[in-house]
Amino acid sequence: MTTSSQPHESPRMIRIFDTTLRDGEQSPGASMNLAEKLEVASLLDEMGVDIIEAGFPIASPGDFESVKKVAETIQRSTICGLARCSDKDIDAAAEAVKPAKQGRIHVFLATSAIHREFKLRMTPDEIVQRAIAGVKRARNLCDDIEFSPEDACRTEDDFLCRVVEAAIDAGATTINMPDTVGYTTPNEIFDRFSMVRNRVPNIDKAILSTHCHNDLGMAVANSMAAVAAGAGQIECTINGIGERAGNAALEEIVMAMKTRQDFFNCTTAIDTQRLVPASRLVSKTTGIQVQRNKAIVGRNAFAHESGIHQDGMLKERSTYEIMSPEDVGFSKTDLVLGKHSGRAALADRAKTLGFSLSPEQLVTVFEQFKILADKKKEIYDGDIIALVQQQISGS
Ligand code: KIV
Ligand code: ZN
Repeated sequence: MTTSSQPHESPRMIRIFDTTLRDGEQSPGASMNLAEKLEVASLLDEMGVDIIEAGFPIASPGDFESVKKVAETIQRSTICGLARCSDKDIDAAAEAVKPAKQGRIHVFLATSAIHREFKLRMTPDEIVQRAIAGVKRARNLCDDIEFSPEDACRTEDDFLCRVVEAAIDAGATTINMPDTVGYTTPNEIFDRFSMVRNRVPNIDKAILSTHCHNDLGMAVANSMAAVAAGAGQIECTINGIGERAGNAALEEIVMAMKTRQDFFNCTTAIDTQRLVPASRLVSKTTGIQVQRNKAIVGRNAFAHESGIHQDGMLKERSTYEIMSPEDVGFSKTDLVLGKHSGRAALADRAKTLGFSLSPEQLVTVFEQFKILADKKKEIYDGDIIALVQQQISGS
């Protein structure tokens, strides 16, 4: 796998399509009410998200109202509504996104043999006809149409190319090829996107998009491989929430492009300092906690406990940090004091707390600190203050 552009070319702008309010909301227990959806949508808009998928309007009257309200309220981002390839779904989505400054209808229809045979019970020809009819109907109602051949990553190459070509001819402006069940691998998705780009004659009339699920833990890697193969849009969610194991995490994708611009030569319009606030808001709103070691936004993402790492960090941050916490919205690096910590970090924390210890005092406080650290998971500032004060009053 190689990257799609040469390092001397200016970075390619990748559109960020956030589906926290649609696929993210499909996480069990993550449903949001109208006010919550509006709060999340406003933050996504301020953050620079290009397209907000606000919901699935036919799913319920509440979903319809939320998409419509988001469309009325949000001024900058494109507002998208999801629709199956059926008249009533498409009409509901068109109605819901109508108030938007820029609206999009996202039509999907499964194309893999498994879905065709067992779910839809339709022949390949019927699928192509249904896709054409759906895209045409949507295009008569809205200029911006995305078409997704659901389960694209398990669809036969020839059939995938046939459906994609037909959908573009019918008026689709974005073609999203989802890895619906999180089954693909980075090399495989790179080959699939390259294959479609090489074989579909009208492919340049549409933007190619990737939408990866995380069942095997490869959603972000797969999304980045699709970008390397020419995808111009990534679909993702805040904190990676979504069906089953979730979707590709927006914060990881954005920071991968920012931190490894030398490799991907791509950029986004996202204000990265809003990543942590967005993560906290979505977690609070959905009740889904962010694991401590979650990349970019987890509590431990910029925390260092081991003495060797802390010593390196105090000398030069780039020894153990590839991004700065301030860039993603944390206030600072966290040198956590625990049993693996060293003397340098303890002295540094004592200094921050207003104590200047002599070398002899530091030796004693450090001994007491190690005894305490063996008994506690984390040492707090209050513990350090108590240890130092004991030493000062005793000496
Ligand atoms: O995962 C999927 O295939 C989807 C489609 C509706 C795009 O969410
Ligand atoms: Zn999905």
